[in-house]
Amino acid sequence: MRQLLSILALLVGSVLSTGARQPHELVAIRDPVSQQCRHLALRELAQFRGLSDDGYVARKALDTGEERVQLVHYDKGYLWTYAESLCGKRDTWNFHVIVQEEPLAEQSGQIVLQTSTSSSYRTEVPPLEVEPLITSGDSRNRVDLVFFADGYTSEERDKFFDDAMRLAEDISGNQTFYTVKPLLNFWAAFTPSKESGVGSGGKPKDTPFGLYRDGTELRAVYYSKPEVAREACFSLGTQCDYPILMGLGGEFTVITPSLANGALVLRHELGHSVIDVGEEYDGGFAYFGVNAAHNVTVADIPWAHWLTNSSHAHSHSASASKEAPTTRVERSVMPLQAYPWTLLNTSEPWATAFNSSGTYAWHLVRFSLSGLPEKDDLRVELDGRDLGWVPRADIGVDRWHYDIKLNRTLAGGEHNVSFTLRNAKRKGEAQLCSVEVLEFGDEDE
Ligand SMILES: *[C@@H]1O[C@H](CO)[C@@H](O)[C@H](O)[C@H]1NC(C)=O
Ligand SMILES: *[C@@H]1O[C@H](CO)[C@@H](O)[C@H](O)[C@H]1NC(C)=O
Ligand SMILES: *[C@@H]1O[C@H](CO)[C@@H](O)[C@H](O)[C@H]1NC(C)=O
Ligand SMILES: *[C@@H]1O[C@H](CO)[C@@H](O)[C@H](O)[C@H]1NC(C)=O
Ligand SMILES: *[C@@H]1O[C@H](CO)[C@@H](O)[C@H](O)[C@H]1NC(C)=O
Ligand SMILES: *[C@@H]1O[C@H](CO)[C@@H](O)[C@H](O)[C@H]1NC(C)=O
Ligand SMILES: *[C@@H]1O[C@H](CO)[C@@H](O)[C@H](O)[C@H]1NC(C)=O
Repeated sequence: MRQLLSILALLVGSVLSTGARQPHELVAIRDPVSQQCRHLALRELAQFRGLSDDGYVARKALDTGEERVQLVHYDKGYLWTYAESLCGKRDTWNFHVIVQEEPLAEQSGQIVLQTSTSSSYRTEVPPLEVEPLITSGDSRNRVDLVFFADGYTSEERDKFFDDAMRLAEDISGNQTFYTVKPLLNFWAAFTPSKESGVGSGGKPKDTPFGLYRDGTELRAVYYSKPEVAREACFSLGTQCDYPILMGLGGEFTVITPSLANGALVLRHELGHSVIDVGEEYDGGFAYFGVNAAHNVTVADIPWAHWLTNSSHAHSHSASASKEAPTTRVERSVMPLQAYPWTLLNTSEPWATAFNSSGTYAWHLVRFSLSGLPEKDDLRVELDGRDLGWVPRADIGVDRWHYDIKLNRTLAGGEHNVSFTLRNAKRKGEAQLCSVEVLEFGDEDE
């Protein structure tokens, strides 16, 4: 433990300055209904831009149904009072609490972690071998993203660092985080797992963070040991702002290193944790943040600065260039969305019907599959017509989304889509995850 802390201190560098006006941060995770706290952490922050004397409070609903309350304030005493107002008197705390004590001595540069009350539960920090992936400067003045390993054995150590590097490069390359890359540090923190891979069927394996899937489906990955992840991230001090739990095969960004989907999922999940945006796909319910508008009024559109000058693009009137910009919703509709998550068999196709209004210029059949590596494994039909599906090259058994664009009007009335497994050898693995049909207006719409 001691040795580990020294290593961490080295990595963190000269840790925290002891300026009189140091901001402190309190994070509490609690059940919003019973108001029972599940976790609390209190630490000094290196910086917090634009912090007023009143402090900063943020509340966020987590996927788990819990609520995350964050308070940043210069006055540590105020944080303790606030903590008690959230979680009850300190001597009654029987949940996971991490408090960073004052640095022992500035020159030793060590962070000492201690419980503040004997009744609170602590968990050991797992051993962490931390390597820089892509770094841009001192962690005290950067946003630090750390990949943690789950389901990688000591033999799979190199694979972990390769997977993490590939993902960091992907999301900080030409898009997504490219424009803010100089403000980011990416690190990888390796902990060997006793067993390889993440758990399935709702059961975690013997791994540091206990990641698992619900069934066998390549859908969500869950974590069973949030307190270990919190300890691990906390132990890295200013070097860990956003932990990313990466499992081989909410609060934490949980991803898999899938070659096809890893970066896509990481982008999406970091959108929730770093940027605080809601969903971006059809059929969800949480649409909020800078990528969502519930009103076509320009003032209500967070991305209005990116809109094509509407007076040129959308108006046919000669006097239009004098008009205020106008916006419109592009015409589209989704007559079918289903999440079958079903294993396919050769005896009976999976099929469903939907209705079209017959008023759109073109349509898209969008579906996702896993366990179907070959073209001859599956036939996808719309109204009995083979859509000529081919798998993504090298997809193997991984999940992938396919878009089949059909530039013609769907006639008004009932239609159907069907998925027929043709290769009996794929039974037990071939899975239809999702199906959608989307219809769109023509170029002028
Ligand atoms: C960025 O885009 C260029 C040009 O399209 C491409 O050659 C390069 O590989 C891309 N880099 C990354 C990191 O994706
Ligand atoms: C949409 O914008 C208009 C004009 O600004 C406003 O009157 C209306 O309340 C807004 N509607 C919603 C749902 O925000
Ligand atoms: C759109 O273009 C017109 C003509 O060039 C200009 O007067 C107007 O300010 C532009 N509007 C926006 C929102 O950029
Ligand atoms: C085969 O798949 C179809 C469509 O998903 C399903 O209705 C049927 O129950 C399956 N049959 C067997 C034997 O699993
Ligand atoms: C399509 O519309 C017809 C007429 O309203 C209705 O009877 C039928 O159930 C609809 N089919 C589906 C799949 O919703
Ligand atoms: C699907 O559509 C085709 C073409 O309209 C039709 O022949 C077939 O009976 C439909 N199948 C089902 C199961 O509705
Ligand atoms: C559909 O085809 C028309 C005519 O070739 C073309 O102008 C239009 O761009 C196409 N639309 C789509 C969405 O591909």
